[in-house]
Amino acid sequence: MSAAEQIRERAKGAIPEVGLVLGSGLAGFAEQIDAAVRIPYGDLSGFPSCTNPTHPGELVLGRVGERMVVCLNGRAHLYEGVGPVKLAFPIRMLATLGCHGLIVTNAAGSLSPEAPPGHIMAISDHINLQGANTLAGPHDPDHGERFVPMNGAYDSDLRRLAHRIAGEHDISLVEGVYLAVTGPSFETPAEIRAFRTLGADAVGMSTVQEVIAARQAGLRVLGLSLMTNMAAGLVETPPSAAEVMETAAAAAEDVTTLLSALIAAWPERA
Ligand code: HPA
Repeated sequence: MSAAEQIRERAKGAIPEVGLVLGSGLAGFAEQIDAAVRIPYGDLSGFPSCTNPTHPGELVLGRVGERMVVCLNGRAHLYEGVGPVKLAFPIRMLATLGCHGLIVTNAAGSLSPEAPPGHIMAISDHINLQGANTLAGPHDPDHGERFVPMNGAYDSDLRRLAHRIAGEHDISLVEGVYLAVTGPSFETPAEIRAFRTLGADAVGMSTVQEVIAARQAGLRVLGLSLMTNMAAGLVETPPSAAEVMETAAAAAEDVTTLLSALIAAWPERA
């Protein structure tokens, strides 16, 4: 049985509208879901497993207010040795289940003094420096087009919605470009200087392969980066996994408020 069939059987006909990927340190949002179904990734056929202990690796399907959502609580990364095609699998499954929207979240290093740690950034565009593309390789037309345009990959209406909601809740939300590297080493200060000249506002190790797959599947995407640290070389202290988790924990309330309100206000299927 496919992963989507396994979930459908347990969801008793519930059709989710919005998929949500929770990044490093943001797992707490899953507690807001009135869960109908919880399934460890290991029980879902074909799902990439998470080896990063801060990523729970559990799918949660249920309600946030009136809306039915599927939350991927934790993700796999290229740095875990999971290939780019495998990273697309959970996103394609969300589309198969019926989702028409996707919120991808991540922890990121900030390249911008206007967005110090604790700030949230709505991703306006990305730069893929992972040296990989999830669509490369044999093409399966069931997944969509092979040559997928990435203009407007991060939906401008959804970003506007995010800004409105952030304003209503007094949450400061900036906007910018997310640059993805493979990791797991953090960047060198020289790389960060180079990335600034390339036009990046935030740097991280995830998200872009998922967004490519989501656009191929026709999902409308909103990307949110939580700035957990200043990128390497911009402050004296080098970035660390501990700082990422600490900042994420401190910002959890803002992230939860924003995500809940966004899901409530999410536009109907086009
Ligand atoms: N670099 C890359 N990925 C990250 C960072 C960073 O500084 N912070 C959180 N994820």
